[in-house]
Amino acid sequence: MTKLIGISGSLRRGSYNTALLHAAAGLMPEGAELAVHTIRDIPLYDGDVEASAGIPAPVTALKDAIAAADGLLLVTPEYNNSIPGVFKNAIDWLSRPPADIPRVFSRKPVALIGASPGSFGTILSQAAWLPVLRTLGVTFWSEGRLLVSRAGSVFDQNGALVDAKIKEQLATLLNGFVEFARIEPQSGQ
Ligand SMILES: Cc1cc2nc3c(=O)[nH]c(=O)nc-3n(C[C@H](O)[C@H](O)[C@H](O)COP(=O)(O)O)c2cc1C
Repeated sequence: MTKLIGISGSLRRGSYNTALLHAAAGLMPEGAELAVHTIRDIPLYDGDVEASAGIPAPVTALKDAIAAADGLLLVTPEYNNSIPGVFKNAIDWLSRPPADIPRVFSRKPVALIGASPGSFGTILSQAAWLPVLRTLGVTFWSEGRLLVSRAGSVFDQNGALVDAKIKEQLATLLNGFVEFARIEPQSGQ
C-alpha cells in the first residue's frame, strides 16, 4: 500500500483547496491511500516558544505523519500571488529543528496542486513553493500540474468536485504521483 499524506493550506470551512484535497482522497488509485491532515492546530511560529517549550505537539504529530508517508500532497491556495501565511507558517514549524529536516523532508516525494476562484488557478503560489521545497530537500514531482481556476463552478455547495474534466485531470495526476512515490527511494530507506 502506498501511503500519501495531504495537507490543505486553508483554514476556511468552505475552502476550495480543502475540498480539492478531499476529492483527491476519493480518487486515489488502487493500492494507494491519501490521509487528510490539517494545519489548524499549528500555532504561529515563535522562536521564544520553541526555545522555552520545544516543538508544539500538533507540529510533532504532523512531522511524524509526513515522515511515515511515502509522499506528500500540498494543496495550496494563493494569496497576493504567493503562499498564504498560514501555510508557510505551518511548513516553517515543520522544518524545526533543522536537524530533523532529513527525517521529515529529505527526498520526500512532494506534489503540488491548488484551486482559486480566479483565472490563474494558483500558478504563482505554486511557483512560490519551489524555493521552499528546494530548501527542505524534498524530491519535487514536476511531471503533473493541476491549476484549478474558476473554482466556484468546479465544486458544488457541499464541496464535492463536480467538474468531470478536473476530476479526470486530478485522477491522472494522482496516478502519476503515486507511481513516482512508490519507486522513489527516500532518506532512511
Ligand atoms: C488575502 C487574500 C489574497 C488573495 N490573493 C489572491 C491571489 O493572489 N490570487 C488568487 O488567485 N486568489 C487570491 N485570493 C482569493 C483566494 O484564491 C480565495 O479566497 C480562495 O477561495 C482561497 O482558497 P480557499 O477557498 O481554499 O480558502 C486572495 C484571497 C485573500 C483572502
